[in-house]
Amino acid sequence: MSIDTPPISPQQYEVLHGGGAEAAEIAKQRISRRRFLRRSMLAVWGVSATSAVAGALFYMYPNLSGGFGSTLTVGKVSEFKASKPTEFKLEQQGVYHRPVARTYIIHLDPSTQFLLKGGDLSSQLSSENVVKDKDGSYWIALYQKCVHLGCTVPFRDNCDSFKCPCHGSHYNVTGEYLDGPAPRSLDRFQVSIQGEDVVVNTGVINSNVAHPDVTTRLIAAPTVDCSL
Ligand code: FES
Repeated sequence: MSIDTPPISPQQYEVLHGGGAEAAEIAKQRISRRRFLRRSMLAVWGVSATSAVAGALFYMYPNLSGGFGSTLTVGKVSEFKASKPTEFKLEQQGVYHRPVARTYIIHLDPSTQFLLKGGDLSSQLSSENVVKDKDGSYWIALYQKCVHLGCTVPFRDNCDSFKCPCHGSHYNVTGEYLDGPAPRSLDRFQVSIQGEDVVVNTGVINSNVAHPDVTTRLIAAPTVDCSL
């Protein structure tokens, strides 16, 4: 059935072919219905097209959305107590999960012992998006996603490290690879301290931190056993 030819009853057919005022009224109703159906279809098409364009814009420019993919304030500096790598406690000191940014905020104490020195240390801190604060502490924003197959990696207080429950990939508190099938260290975002705010740019992911070696590893591997 076409929208241009809405159904007509046998009685209406008789009247239409007889002419007169009643025929004119039936014809008018049929024209109104045709217009209504056309307008309805145009409205549905318009809503679908608008949704498709909005979806495309979100994927092309995710930082317009104000959510993950944009620059986010994840809390105040005072909410993130710093810690030495061997004393991290999730949400209490050293490591904090912020699901809105899909990130773990790492805050290392100024006394943290790094394995590298001088220019090598500065260069490695920079390449791993580790930011030194004016009080001497260090900040990192690690992407929560395992770089093996994408599971969310939990931090394990009893391991001093991140251990993926899916296939066992293991990363230290700075996100450096320790063992397991992961092809590289954890990815990370740009983090900055703006006044009292801790700000993470989740629109730019650094996925170039390779498996560390003696020339690039920042901190010693934890000595505790971390079985699944
Ligand atoms: S997804 Fe994490 S080890 Fe496979």
